[in-house]
Amino acid sequence: MKIFIDTANLDEIKEASELRLLDGVTTNPTLLSREVERTGMKPDDVLKRICEMVDGPISAEVVSLEAEGIVKEAKELGTIAKNICIKIPIVKDGIKATRRLREMGIMVNMTLIFSVNQALLAAKAGATFVSPFIGRLDDIGHTGMDIIRDIMTVFENYDFTTEVIVASIRHPLHVVEAALIGADIATIPFKVIDKMFKHPLTDIGIERFLADWKKISKK
Ligand code: E4P
Repeated sequence: MKIFIDTANLDEIKEASELRLLDGVTTNPTLLSREVERTGMKPDDVLKRICEMVDGPISAEVVSLEAEGIVKEAKELGTIAKNICIKIPIVKDGIKATRRLREMGIMVNMTLIFSVNQALLAAKAGATFVSPFIGRLDDIGHTGMDIIRDIMTVFENYDFTTEVIVASIRHPLHVVEAALIGADIATIPFKVIDKMFKHPLTDIGIERFLADWKKISKK
């Protein structure tokens, strides 16, 4: 499973990229505006820095909701770096724009996916990625991970090449479930990546090994 980081925070991306485990980054208008406020940088400069740090698709989201505007914004975002992937909400005009952008060879991540049908339409339009938001589904009493399983089945049934990005991940168990299902990608917030490393028995084990080693090194 590929691992993307779900943030626009440059410090988090730097720290995570140094692990050399990252295959890409996803941002959205909320995450990017947070980083613009934190750093005082311009949005395009933040995206440029991210593209320099991570060698993989970097999703940057459009804010237009009609096809012409989406294509125009996508072309502008595309000038930032070669690895920019255009993130577009699943609306009818987003589908129209996706077709056009894919014909131009531009990567598209179709976002705000909450149903199997939305994912099917995005794949039919040729989206490179779909992003189903599982945490937000859990929040309203659904089992978000169920749609990942179903989308994977539908894509396999018809040999769609669109990759599934499990998004809106809230905790390490979401990552385990995504991997067990065989999802292509999980986009994970920094604090969840951090938690994936941790186990109390690892800490206790290290402590004991070092204490035992200290005993003989004193002799
Ligand atoms: C992914 O593409 C989205 O930016 C993100 O996962 C949304 O997560 P949230 O539901 O925690 O805001």
